[in-house]
Amino acid sequence: MSTILITVLIITGIATLLAFLLTFADAYIADYGECKIIVNKDEELVVEGGSSLLSSLTEHDIYLPSACGGKGSCGYCKCKINEGAGPVLPTELSYLTEEDVENNIRLTCQVKVKEDMYIEIPEDLLHAKKYTAVVETAKDLTPNIRFLKLKITDGQEIEFLAGQYVQLLAPPYPGNPDEVYRAYSIASSTTETNSIDLIIGYVPDGIVTTYVHKHLSEGDEVSFNGPFGDFYLNDSDKDAVLVAVSTGMAPIRSILYEMLHKEIDRNTVFYFGARTREDLFMLDEMEMFEESLPRFKFVPVLSRATEEDQWEGEEGRVTDLIEKYLEEGENKEAYLCGGAPMIKSTIEALVEKGFKEEMIYFDEF
Ligand SMILES: Cc1cc2nc3c(=O)[nH]c(=O)nc-3n(C[C@H](O)[C@H](O)[C@H](O)COP(=O)(O)OP(=O)(O)OC[C@H]3O[C@@H](n4cnc5c(N)ncnc54)[C@H](O)[C@@H]3O)c2cc1C
Ligand code: FES
Repeated sequence: MSTILITVLIITGIATLLAFLLTFADAYIADYGECKIIVNKDEELVVEGGSSLLSSLTEHDIYLPSACGGKGSCGYCKCKINEGAGPVLPTELSYLTEEDVENNIRLTCQVKVKEDMYIEIPEDLLHAKKYTAVVETAKDLTPNIRFLKLKITDGQEIEFLAGQYVQLLAPPYPGNPDEVYRAYSIASSTTETNSIDLIIGYVPDGIVTTYVHKHLSEGDEVSFNGPFGDFYLNDSDKDAVLVAVSTGMAPIRSILYEMLHKEIDRNTVFYFGARTREDLFMLDEMEMFEESLPRFKFVPVLSRATEEDQWEGEEGRVTDLIEKYLEEGENKEAYLCGGAPMIKSTIEALVEKGFKEEMIYFDEF
């Protein structure tokens, strides 16, 4: 028994050492020289081989969505690589469908540029830009949620669709040695083109949220790129059901400003979930939307109301509101924003009420 165990340990040790040596050699010894990346058959980029395709594109001001900042854990940085990518890597597999693999779709943060590459990027992504801005306002909305107004200072204007997001850059700071990007939904109106609002929650030990909550102050310079995303308000006259929890408020607020600005008159309800009363925010703005949009209703719900809250409103989760109040019917669409479990349970509750799944749009944070 012990001989088998020792043999297994030795083999595992040797395999680990070989894997480490290969990774080390690839990172520090291999020299791939200059490589070309041909984008959409007409644009040629010359890059130094050895970096990820994602960072090579970023160096040439082509910004792909990369919500996890290149860690291989969001699956957002896909693009079609027709030649030069090598075999699909194990780190890509959990984010690629069989169809993706058949169509040469790859995760650009995992694929290294080692030879000339031929790639295809959708035209709308080529419009994403990098912006420099100054923090005009930084204020706490709740003990864990911060509001930022970032005024663009590089002379550019940002055009986006209500519901889309940008990627905010956290520079190195004590405890974080690298530059890191994370996705944040634009919370402001599309009519504001020289600034954006963001609503950012605090994640303990989270790299970018620690930067935003503990290091960023009014007057600081920041950088972001975008806009990205296919979550935005459709041009439709269907009843709209908006559902969000916590910072999921961000894209919904932008959607509400869009309705206001375009004088969109749709039967619209917004179910907003928070834990306690102190986790609710922007109630005055929601009141303003109720007064200004003819058929809009805002319904907040608390999942952990305390006695001190003296809360007389709805209690439970957003799904309870759907079960309790939403009338069955097909001529409706829904826009959801929040964490994965909330999105999953809300879709289930909406389908129970007769919603077609293809009429449910969501952004999973
Ligand atoms: C399209 C899109 C839009 C988004 N918009 C917003 C927005 O408007 N506002 C906003 O606050 N966030 C938003 N997010 C989430 C945001 O991109 C980051 O994931 C989040 O802020 C955490 O980043 P971080 O660098 O601080 O944490 P990381 O350093 O990435 O994470 C540190 C650790 O915390 C865990 N973790 C990460 N996020 C959470 C979480 N929410 N709860 C618990 N644990 C977590 C990670 O698994 C990791 O172990 C959005 C995400 C996407 C994909
Ligand atoms: S950037 Fe997130 S998986 Fe590639």
